Amino acid sequence: MKKTKNGKVNICIVGAGYVGLVSGACLAEVGHRVVCVDSDPAKIKMLGKGIMPIFEDDLERVVKKNVKAGRLHFANSIKDGMHHGGHRAEAVFIAVGTPPRDDGSADLSAIEKVSEQVALNMTDYTVIVEKSTVPVSTCHWIEKTVKRNNKHHIPFDVASNPEFLREGTAVWDFLEPDRVVVGVASKQAEELMRRIYKPIKGPLVITSVKSAELIKHASNSFLSTKISFINAVANICEKTGANVEDVARGMGLDKRIGPAFLKAGIGFGGFCFPKDLEAFYWLSSQVGYDFELLKTVKDINEGQKMWLLKKIEEELWNLEGKTVALLGLAFKPETDDMRFAPSIDIVRELLKRGAKVRGYDPVSQENAKKCLKDIYFAKDAYDCAKGADCVCVVTEWKEFAKLDQKKLLAVVKHQIMVDGRNLYDPAKMRDMGWAYKSVGRP
Ligand SMILES: NC(=O)c1ccc[n+]([C@@H]2O[C@H](COP(=O)([O-])OP(=O)(O)OC[C@H]3O[C@@H](n4cnc5c(N)ncnc54)[C@H](O)[C@@H]3O)[C@@H](O)[C@H]2O)c1
Repeated sequence: MKKTKNGKVNICIVGAGYVGLVSGACLAEVGHRVVCVDSDPAKIKMLGKGIMPIFEDDLERVVKKNVKAGRLHFANSIKDGMHHGGHRAEAVFIAVGTPPRDDGSADLSAIEKVSEQVALNMTDYTVIVEKSTVPVSTCHWIEKTVKRNNKHHIPFDVASNPEFLREGTAVWDFLEPDRVVVGVASKQAEELMRRIYKPIKGPLVITSVKSAELIKHASNSFLSTKISFINAVANICEKTGANVEDVARGMGLDKRIGPAFLKAGIGFGGFCFPKDLEAFYWLSSQVGYDFELLKTVKDINEGQKMWLLKKIEEELWNLEGKTVALLGLAFKPETDDMRFAPSIDIVRELLKRGAKVRGYDPVSQENAKKCLKDIYFAKDAYDCAKGADCVCVVTEWKEFAKLDQKKLLAVVKHQIMVDGRNLYDPAKMRDMGWAYKSVGRP
């Protein structure tokens, strides 16, 4: 078996999605030898041809550079991934999806399947690193599963290493993290994890496995709480005539509060916050604690998504037969991810009320076509606004900030704009002729 030199580690990453592919490319970028495995053959085929299966800034450059340098490889099976080119993986990262079930709990069946396969293919001491977002005690279940399938009694450890990258800035976040959290149960596992993360800047927080698992759910739930808090404040601002941006600035300068995640809007979406909040609430109730605060955070977020509908109706009265143009469909800018995007609920409600919906997203359009039916997909923002009774900002893409408003005003039927992301200056928009509404701002 070939060995790596100079502290470099042979790594296999299972799941080549937003987290797995970015982690794999970045770990190769800092010198490790990485094989990314995915059960979707189309994804591996695309990667083999140098085509990125997801849109993520700088990812293509990092992937291509490391493939060329012979540090990054792709494989269809865990067996191949763990023994690729005669190199045995010392660490196997699990980065598969953990989607929500109907009751709010996380579906961990992919993690179980991967754990079985890893157990069957270990030939020497291996650290199995749980990177997907999972409820506390998942590593305990991985350990049990591996033990059950570990016929040759190969020594192993299970470590928890939750990921905090944000889609849109994922490569940067991985290479320049605020912190790296690692939960371990042995010195041997700790030593390997320290070697893996040594070239990455940012403090390494070593904890028990359970604490590391909990850090991820607690962090995402806290951030969701901050967003729902400022959205609730925005509602009070609207009722009192205060300006939520001034309130947020005044709050955020307090170091104990901080300015991040104090931007009012139509609520959070995406593959992480909604499902992690649900899963943490579910887990809390399972262990006998009613974490009511999280339920309220979720309720505020659901209400906030409907803010847009309420504002449109305030302007247009009946929606039957009216045309609504949605600028942006992705759950946030700089990503093509449509999972749990607020636009999905908004479109459903608009159609239910009889409106005709036109939509445009600079990047997620193709993904949007898979989950949004009965809407017209426009070729650009101006085409989207054509003949609209109301134009709505749903995702704050940079290109929307630079739109030629005169051109936009010229193509709409009625000059009404509902800005769900506070992208524009209210005074300037009104001067230009828009009847303009935004979140929590007079
Ligand atoms: N997307 C984010 O911003 C983000 C950030 C931090 C943490 N997370 C967490 O990381 C995990 C992965 O999220 P993601 O966004 O990368 O998901 P994803 O859907 O983009 O990627 C998961 C990949 O795993 C593959 N897969 C599923 N089962 C497999 C199996 N048995 N063997 C091999 N491959 C398999 C899928 O084909 C897919 O390519 C989730 O738990 C998520 O909550 C996501």
